[in-house]
Amino acid sequence: MPIHVSAQPPATLEVDWLIATLTEQEEFHPALRALDAALDGVLTRLRERGDLTGKAGEIVKLPDARGLNAARLLVVGLGKPSAITTASFEKSAVTAVRAVTDKASRTVAVVLNSSSTGPVNLLRQSELWAACGLVGGRGQAFHKTETDRFPLKDLTLLIESGSVENEVKSAAAKGRILGDAVNLTRELVNRTPEEMYPESFARRARQLADEFSSLTCEVWDEERLADENMGALLAVARGSVKAPRMVILEYLHGGPNAPTLAFVGKGVTFDSGGYSLKPTDGMLTMKCDMAGAATVLGAMNAIAELNLKVNVIGLMGLVENLVSGDAYKLGDVLKARNGVTIEVANTDAEGRLVLADVLSYAVDRGVDKIIDLATLTGACVVALGEDVVGTFTNAPAWEKKVLDAAETCGEPIWPMPMFDNFNELIKSDVADVKNTGGRWGGAVTAAKFLEKFVGGKEWVHLDIAGPAFASATKPHREGGGTGAMVRTLVEVASHWK
Ligand code: BES
Ligand code: MN
Ligand code: ZN
Repeated sequence: MPIHVSAQPPATLEVDWLIATLTEQEEFHPALRALDAALDGVLTRLRERGDLTGKAGEIVKLPDARGLNAARLLVVGLGKPSAITTASFEKSAVTAVRAVTDKASRTVAVVLNSSSTGPVNLLRQSELWAACGLVGGRGQAFHKTETDRFPLKDLTLLIESGSVENEVKSAAAKGRILGDAVNLTRELVNRTPEEMYPESFARRARQLADEFSSLTCEVWDEERLADENMGALLAVARGSVKAPRMVILEYLHGGPNAPTLAFVGKGVTFDSGGYSLKPTDGMLTMKCDMAGAATVLGAMNAIAELNLKVNVIGLMGLVENLVSGDAYKLGDVLKARNGVTIEVANTDAEGRLVLADVLSYAVDRGVDKIIDLATLTGACVVALGEDVVGTFTNAPAWEKKVLDAAETCGEPIWPMPMFDNFNELIKSDVADVKNTGGRWGGAVTAAKFLEKFVGGKEWVHLDIAGPAFASATKPHREGGGTGAMVRTLVEVASHWK
């Protein structure tokens, strides 16, 4: 999808759809006034009748825009100027893009609005429209005979004067990189478990790394994982005929003596629960259980594209959690890479077992800071709902950086407590720790479990069980994989030192 920037008057542009924004305020902004004049006052009349209000997410279409060179006009509401945020702006933008991508090969121009859009200034808008142009045009129907969502053919960002053209262009270029990364993560999550299993995921990671001289990729197979004492990860993998993998992506671009950041992702390519089998309803969406790993891969892609001057390594633990005559059992005791022994109290608490070994490896690599991402607990979804990521940490100052980055990107996130008394719940009679703490505080006991494998390093755990996968399609968001936290990880990598 080519992205252009132009200072041409909006009424003169020949495109399938012209998109303009409107806030809930008295006056039309200058570009909208010009369009209204070219359209013989139809926008004024619509507004007088109450059919054009600028309420957040409102879509008004003129499918026959006589008076403009564009075939059609769409006006999307941004809400009250004082209430506009990155998140609300993005919602409106994706809603607009989704409203014009139900047909193939659309050319679209967006009229950027440099006034009364709160904190979302012209450059931020450029980045967001480029990203949303890509994300909104991509569906999840890889297997529909007739698909219902189509990428844009072409996107033009219209500005008022040519003087800011270069800044707008580079903001749009960043938006494109972020949009592509989000779509990559979404695609990996949306692929069926038949398509996306540890080996095929690792292959995708390697292909991606091959595109960049700055990215190196190492893949560990079963044998190597055994040599490296990854007993917890291997136990989970044993129930499947699909062999496990660990992917190590290195991006070392920070120069001499620069510290290293590690992203660690849970990559359970399908979670049946194992012998603690999930009921059908709970299992239905469990292709999404590798979203943590997919998020790491998407973010590493963007970081390499953006050529950030940092050291980041991405570690992805990939297994499938199934049942078989050789699957791991309740009552088994596993030994993790760092020597900690784990009583298996529930084979459906598998993500923390995979992460235990991958986190230990990150510690052994001597990384300076760690962020892990995992669709770890249903309890976190109960606590925070489907749209909010939970954060857990042993280092509040490090967590603050992650919270700030998420705020900048408009991704909802909330810190959870890590009191020591939660450790009581995961004490085992037969091993150092057990892998569940029962019903209460389930998201926290999972995090307290992980904490035992980070060796005191500064670490933030992101439970993305809710936000990684959307159960329903909404006007502002396609259902399925969402790419949540890809942009936040890139933002953290840009500003973490
Ligand atoms: N992958 C699930 C968590 C999950 C639930 C992700 C809903 C996305 C949506 C995880 O492996 C799991 O099964 N967790 C258990 C833990 C319990 C057995 C302690 C859970 O949440 O029930
Ligand atoms: Mn599970
Ligand atoms: Zn799981």
